[in-house]
Amino acid sequence: MSDITIATLDQMKQRGEKIAVLTSYDASFTQLLEAAGVEVLLVGDSLGMVIQGQESTLPVRVEDMVYHARNVAHGRKHALVVADMPFMSYSSATQALDTAARLMKEGGAHMVKLEGGATQLETVRRLVAHGIPVCAHLGLLPQSVHKLGGYRVQGRDEESAHILMEDALALQEAGAQLLVLECVPATLAAEISQALRIPVIGIGAGADCDGQVLVLYDMLGITAEELPRFAKNFLDEADSILDAIRAYVREVKEGRFPGSEHSF
Ligand code: KIV
Repeated sequence: MSDITIATLDQMKQRGEKIAVLTSYDASFTQLLEAAGVEVLLVGDSLGMVIQGQESTLPVRVEDMVYHARNVAHGRKHALVVADMPFMSYSSATQALDTAARLMKEGGAHMVKLEGGATQLETVRRLVAHGIPVCAHLGLLPQSVHKLGGYRVQGRDEESAHILMEDALALQEAGAQLLVLECVPATLAAEISQALRIPVIGIGAGADCDGQVLVLYDMLGITAEELPRFAKNFLDEADSILDAIRAYVREVKEGRFPGSEHSF
């Protein structure tokens, strides 16, 4: 099998083939995710909550991300590794370059992800100009949870939906090569996916995105809390963790996950 690259993801979008993404934080899960056919491994700063037990992603440090990215990179054979830039590690374009350089040089990531729209355009341009592939993240921005007043669906009214569409187009124009859309109405996510040439990966954004992502621990039901509406415990009906991940990949590819019960 050849390496999954950004060009592979572009071709999948053009062919209408759904992209399966999951978060990964260590080498062992990475090997299972690859064996199940996951194309993109997201070293998400969700690790602050599911690994470190923090209340939000805000306390996650660059060194935490580098450590987990490196573990994933050690387990990885073919998948594309995307690493989150943590809260306040890209507050200027110069700081973003330093953070991205560490995630790629020390962590072995192939691409970095950052949250935000219009305010991030200059940073995206600077990163791309230095050969750093960027995944943008719009909709519910977990690093802005206190500003948003909670983990809420975004883009419900006409004005905020319009801003989301404009931000998505502007990020693509600035050079972002992948977009994560979190917790937005399915109809809006479908419109954005159609309008963009770059692949759009949804989480709580309906079935019509170009691919789907979930937090690994959510899709395996490793939580004492109730799962968010957009997640599904695939281990419930599987015989093993590998089977559960395979079921996720299959349902994403066949457009069966997310169903309307997981969407807004
Ligand atoms: O940190 C993370 O796991 C993420 C996903 C929820 C998209 O950003």
